[in-house]
Amino acid sequence: MEKMQGKKVSIIGAGNVGATVAYSLAMNGSCHEIWLRDRNPDISMGKALDMSQAANVARTHTVVKVAHEASDMKDSDIVVITAGSPRKPGMTRDDLLMINAEITKEVVADVKKYAPNSIIIMVSNPLDVMTYVALKESGFPKERVVGMAGILDSARMAHFIFEKIGYGAGQIRASVMGGHGDTMVPLPKFSTVAGVPLADVLTKDEIEEIVERTKHGGAEIVGYLKTGSAYYAPAKATAIMVEAILRDTKQIHPCAVYLDGHYGYSDVVSGVPVALGANGVEKLFEMSLTDEQKEQFAHSVDSVREMIDVLKDKKFFA
Ligand code: LAC
Repeated sequence: MEKMQGKKVSIIGAGNVGATVAYSLAMNGSCHEIWLRDRNPDISMGKALDMSQAANVARTHTVVKVAHEASDMKDSDIVVITAGSPRKPGMTRDDLLMINAEITKEVVADVKKYAPNSIIIMVSNPLDVMTYVALKESGFPKERVVGMAGILDSARMAHFIFEKIGYGAGQIRASVMGGHGDTMVPLPKFSTVAGVPLADVLTKDEIEEIVERTKHGGAEIVGYLKTGSAYYAPAKATAIMVEAILRDTKQIHPCAVYLDGHYGYSDVVSGVPVALGANGVEKLFEMSLTDEQKEQFAHSVDSVREMIDVLKDKKFFA
């Protein structure tokens, strides 16, 4: 794998997701330096030390450090924001809205000050709204603020498809658009198993079951873990985005981005296919949707807009 020299990634929030993003990048030698920043410095100290030692086991050159001060994030190429209150069982992503909006506002102020040319990857929930908050609070161009979720949701759908058919692991390309929430829009018509349309390998009922399970994929894991939410797949999905940007691959992934007239929506964030490269979001793809898909997407965009409106009503944005 190609190694990146001199690239700096800061990760705000060294909880399960943030630490696992760091670990994934460190094991791949995807960047030169990773700086972990957490409210609890001992947590970041312990994890940074452990991961730096793991990098030596793996013989990669990535160094994991602790950002004790916000200024330690200086000149980061990418800042990943995972800081926020985690979703507890029974709690919807939306319950987290105000708590996490305030946290995001605070950390984005630091990013703006110390890493004004960085690309922000937002991971905190409710994802689409937090991406919107990061965009507004940073004042960064829309290409440089992008939310993770579509890669995770489509990977979950791909896994559920595999569980149903029992063949084609790793060859399934599932497609999901819309917000990262119960209104997300899995797109079975755009999903294939090694090019074979889903409708040719599964019944309508089976596909419907997969769609529903995908929409609640996060909650299913919270239900088992009880004290927290998923982190391996969310972290790997985030690492894939970091690597696409650092390596300027122009890979196309579903990500949460600002819509500026796209699909007929403006001043809102939702998940759509985009090409990721050195400049962040380099191209946004507008797919031709069926009337049913358009309706579902509208519903999803509305649910994100409602939360943005709650923040606007509370005079959250200056
Ligand atoms: C999930 C939560 C973290 O989807 O949003 O796993």
